[in-house]
Amino acid sequence: MNKRGNDIYFITGNSYKYNEIQKLFGTERLNFRLIQKDLNPIEIQADNLYEVALFKLNSIKETLEGSYFIEDAGFFIDKPLNGFPGVWSKYVFKTIGNIGILKLIDNFEETEAHFESIIAFYFQPQDKVLTFQGIVKGKVSKEIRGKGGFGFDPIFIPNEYPNKTFAELSTEEKNKISHRGKAWIKFIKFLKDT
Ligand code: IMP
Repeated sequence: MNKRGNDIYFITGNSYKYNEIQKLFGTERLNFRLIQKDLNPIEIQADNLYEVALFKLNSIKETLEGSYFIEDAGFFIDKPLNGFPGVWSKYVFKTIGNIGILKLIDNFEETEAHFESIIAFYFQPQDKVLTFQGIVKGKVSKEIRGKGGFGFDPIFIPNEYPNKTFAELSTEEKNKISHRGKAWIKFIKFLKDT
């Protein structure tokens, strides 16, 4: 592959996400270079993250040459909110935020929640679109805790660390168990096997 063919664009305006993925990328000896690009792809409202991610990827097709990917995530409070905010996570975070979410929960002893991440990747050398998924399960914290991470991290307690929120973990600890970390490992495997 020529030099340009080794570049992969990560389309995101979220530098937390970029830093998480950049750290993982750095630990792998890959023949690719990761470049951040903020293109503001079109967000649609759909029932599941796959549709949102694939629509987003498609919306930037005309703008870019080479290989590129987007990552779309959602926070799902399965108990007691039946999966809310899910695909509306971004809007809900902007409007009512973590304080508002905690107000919606009446019984913290019984919460179940998960994050889901979808990486949608256009791989130019093979002219194909691939998706990689990752999920992390846990519950909702009774209060906002921790200074790390972003978004809903201060109110999510992963099953792997029952006494800590995502925001109380280091980036490395979060990456090992997170939705994005898991999707990312699948993505890296594809790049390594290619
Ligand atoms: P998007 O993938 O950037 O559209 O994410 C949707 C919403 O979920 C945003 O409001 C983010 O703050 C939140 N979100 C995505 N990933 C994470 C995460 O790893 N931790 C906490 N919140 C997240």
